[in-house]
Amino acid sequence: MRKFSIFGLVAVVGLLVSGSASAAGDAAKGATIFNKCKACHSDVAGKNLVGPSLFAVVGRTAGTEAGYAFSAGVKALGYAWDEAKLDAWLASPKAVVPGTKMTFAGLPNAQDRADIIAYLATKK
Ligand code: HEC
Repeated sequence: MRKFSIFGLVAVVGLLVSGSASAAGDAAKGATIFNKCKACHSDVAGKNLVGPSLFAVVGRTAGTEAGYAFSAGVKALGYAWDEAKLDAWLASPKAVVPGTKMTFAGLPNAQDRADIIAYLATKK
């Protein structure tokens, strides 16, 4: 019985930790994770590389960065990038837009995604 309640407690604590982890991103950690994006993206306004500039991407309508040739699929999304949309995109770009030019498998870790989104939110 005692053993059982300890397992119960561990499960509850685990849920609390993972719950809060997905809610709050750490921008400082996100700055390090951005190294995975740098081969294709800058976080400088107007500086497009293989991918569009990610400056002010949070709140921007998908596929609208000036001077960048997006795939038809991203242009057709028609929504602004908020936390939830970015989370889905960063988990698997291909799952969101099958024909996307972003040849990046995705960030499997939810905390990594929250952290990079928090970092991108500082770029405005
Ligand atoms: C191998 C190159 C590559 C890597 C690595 C990469 N991207 Fe991309 N990304 C692209 C390309 C190319 C596009 C344009 C996609 C399209 O038009 O289909 C894009 C598009 C995007 C968009 C949509 C921007 C908009 O204005 O609509 C976001 C957001 C994004 N990437 C975030 C990231 C983040 C964050 C990372 C790192 C975790 C990352 N990308 C890693 C190439 C890359």
